Amino acid sequence: MPRKRIQRYEAGDLAVNFDPNLCVHAARCLQTLPGVFDVRRRDWVRPAEAPVAEVIATVRDCPSGALTYEHSSGPELPDPEPSARTVRDGPIYVRGAVSLRDVEGGVIAEGTRFALCRCGHSANKPFCDNSHRAAGFRAD
Ligand code: SF4
Ligand code: FES
Repeated sequence: MPRKRIQRYEAGDLAVNFDPNLCVHAARCLQTLPGVFDVRRRDWVRPAEAPVAEVIATVRDCPSGALTYEHSSGPELPDPEPSARTVRDGPIYVRGAVSLRDVEGGVIAEGTRFALCRCGHSANKPFCDNSHRAAGFRAD
């Protein structure tokens, strides 16, 4: 699958990056801060439309890691405790200082949050791409 370009949106000391290759369209960002995240706009992320702390909290809540941020106060830190949880009929959300490796130990990706495919239908493995919906995947 061709890789899509990473987008960057800046406002003062804050920059929000969006990697469309990782988004699972959970829409949490749109629901939490609709003034900042609005896909009807060409510049769909406007970090200046809410207090910095709220934008950062919403970015950190993005389960796939599609949204990340950079702020002059310091880099985004991973959750202190690593975690993994399954989503009913969907992916596995992992959080923490995550390093994804292939069977030879090569690094696939590193980050603080990922949504991993467990249905086997993603065209972007090991990441979920929402194909579980069309595939009718069912699991607790
Ligand atoms: S995965 Fe992240 S960027 Fe994509 S819709 Fe959900 S919260 Fe927004
Ligand atoms: S779990 Fe989402 S595509 Fe497989």
